[in-house]
Amino acid sequence: MNYVEDFQKWIGDLAKSPEIVVGFVAPSLLKLPFIGYHCLYKHRDNMRKICQYIVENVQQCLEEYKPDDEPSCFVHAYKQRMPNNAFLDDVNLISTCNDFFMAGQETTTTTLRWAVLYLALNQEAQEKLRREIHSVVGRDRLTRMSDKNKMIYAQATVLEVQRMANIVGGNLTHRTTRDTVVKGHKIPKDTFINGDIHYVMARDPNFVEPDSQDLADRVVAFSLGKRACAGEESISGLARVELFLGLTATIQNYRILPRVDEPIDMDPLPMNILQPRDQFIKIEKV
Ligand code: HEM
Repeated sequence: MNYVEDFQKWIGDLAKSPEIVVGFVAPSLLKLPFIGYHCLYKHRDNMRKICQYIVENVQQCLEEYKPDDEPSCFVHAYKQRMPNNAFLDDVNLISTCNDFFMAGQETTTTTLRWAVLYLALNQEAQEKLRREIHSVVGRDRLTRMSDKNKMIYAQATVLEVQRMANIVGGNLTHRTTRDTVVKGHKIPKDTFINGDIHYVMARDPNFVEPDSQDLADRVVAFSLGKRACAGEESISGLARVELFLGLTATIQNYRILPRVDEPIDMDPLPMNILQPRDQFIKIEKV
């Protein structure tokens, strides 16, 4: 099984299946055999097949688990805490790993793909970024997270790519669990709510005419509040680490250029995660 390709195909199929909204609008229709299968259950079955990859990997990893050793990975650390925490069990372990894979793999890859396209279009920014990388890190080793504080332009580039690409612009839907009041607006229990991160990142006039220092805080690509992205901070900022190291390693070593007479297509595919279209670009070793 190829997790990356199968998962990619799965979200592509979801995007091409407008009938999936039937489950939201009229959930009782999902009980009908044909309608239920095409609107929801075939997607669920495909997702289960993809999840089998995670199940096998977790099981393989657990075979090497030794309770008294220092945990060397998330699965071992989780297993070690299981006896002292009633909320932790094997099913939850697999679900958590599955969440990390599903939520973490496509998002960072897609952001880096957008970064390549934006930097191919903006050679000035790309050169400036490369100059910073070469002056702080040099050419003989890769960037480390300990370099990050000295690399302000690289940090700004990652944030700006995230803002412009806005890959989860639709965000995830949440539901109020009790009556709530926000700035005088009453929101009853059980209301669906959506943090409109797309609006914040695409329309905030501060991004057009920056006059404040807090633009970094206004890039809310990982959403807001308690249920914001788990990859942003809680798992050692995994998403931020991947974006920073992935982007700087690429630009340190390669110049990205558009191909002659082939304009770069920045129109995203209409999917839940906004992905760029497959296309060719030119890459030169620096
Ligand atoms: C560029 C990369 C990423 C972006 C833009 C991104 C964005 C998001 C967004 C917008 C949400 C919805 C938050 C909400 O419901 O308000 C989310 C949730 C989540 N993300 Fe990420 N994410 C990224 C990478 C990752 C990585 C690397 C991981 C973990 C390995 C991860 C794990 C999760 C999980 C587990 C959730 C669900 C959190 C919950 O419901 O409590 N994400 N992400």
